[in-house]
Amino acid sequence: MRTILVTGGAGFIGANFVRMLIERGEDVKLVVLDKLTYAGNLGNINDLLASQPERLVFVKGDICDGDVVQAMFDDHGCREVVHFAAESHVDRSILSSSPFIQTNVVGTQVLLDVAKSKNAERFVHVSTDEVYGSLPEDKPEIKFAEETPMAPNSPYSASKAASDCLVRAYFHTFHMPVMMTRCSNNYGPYQFPEKALPLFITNLMQGMKIPLYGDGLNIRDWLYVEDHCQAIWTVLNKGKAGEVYNIGGNNEMTNRAIVDTILREMGSNWDDGVQYVKDRPGHDRRYAIDAGKIKRELGWEPRHRFHTAIKKTIQWYKDHQDWWRAIKNGEYLKYYQTQYAGR
Ligand code: NAD
Ligand code: TYD
Repeated sequence: MRTILVTGGAGFIGANFVRMLIERGEDVKLVVLDKLTYAGNLGNINDLLASQPERLVFVKGDICDGDVVQAMFDDHGCREVVHFAAESHVDRSILSSSPFIQTNVVGTQVLLDVAKSKNAERFVHVSTDEVYGSLPEDKPEIKFAEETPMAPNSPYSASKAASDCLVRAYFHTFHMPVMMTRCSNNYGPYQFPEKALPLFITNLMQGMKIPLYGDGLNIRDWLYVEDHCQAIWTVLNKGKAGEVYNIGGNNEMTNRAIVDTILREMGSNWDDGVQYVKDRPGHDRRYAIDAGKIKRELGWEPRHRFHTAIKKTIQWYKDHQDWWRAIKNGEYLKYYQTQYAGR
């Protein structure tokens, strides 16, 4: 049985990854290291921690703490790493960038150093298409390729780009078996309701409006989280050391089109359900992914279609109101006030 360190495994994508591997019976033991920041939630994996204690272990700790990371290898026997842990929300990085530099840059460096000293066998760094910057909306033929130069525009994407540079350097300098994935916007269960889709869906359920930034015509490529998790698993198993793999849903949509779909699915309308608000500073206009390399070389492609997966996602938030209502409280309300009041 392989023993894999999963950093950030109590967050949105990390928890979905853990759930996918454990529920489908992969021959793995997963050791989740997570600091449980505001975005981490043990409730995302608690049932599996209780039912599968030999295959899933949780350690509360910070990836910036070298001793804690070292114990993952020495005490828990980890030999591979999937690195999800990060500060991940652009708007929060605009309010304050220092936690982003600390976790995303320093944390990744600590993790790389320990993994190097322990001769980790495989290391997947989970990054984002946002490191490439923004694409013109009037040139739909242009998409991000792995060779596209990085040009990050937000403190979040700048910190992820810095971590990508470190990962690249550890391959070139130390020949570490590292791989990097750069994925587009994910949606699905367990996503913290500060991100657009769960925020929009849960606001409507609370009788609140969707706060739509600017003209609502920014474009993102949307991928169902399970497809992203399967892509990461594919890269961990079949990826080539030193390589970058772009991951996307081939599903570009304006924010207006996303909102339209959600309103329709939830029986609301533009007048009752949407409020245009002041734009995000430095708001990237368009992201689009060329995911040809991972398809050609590793045989991965998305399996979920947006129009069915979004229905499933909305239903999940309807069925799990306890989960998000517990989050939309306390610290969250302070954040919401700071972020949206007076916009
Ligand atoms: P998230 O914010 O939901 O979860 C992040 C997790 O990391 C949380 O559980 C948090 O407690 C943990 N964490 C934060 N700082 C930590 C630290 N110092 N030590 C240990 N744990 C820490 O994020 P997510 O949306 O699940 O994103 C996971 C990864 O995927 C990130 O690296 C992000 O950049 C990348 N990514 C996300 C998306 C997306 O659409 N959400 C798209 C592409 C890439
Ligand atoms: P978000 O989920 O923050 O992801 P990204 O990292 O791509 O910015 O936002 C997705 C899109 O939705 C992005 O164009 C910003 C927009 N958005 C809003 O219009 N209103 C909101 O309240 C939020 C959070 C995002």
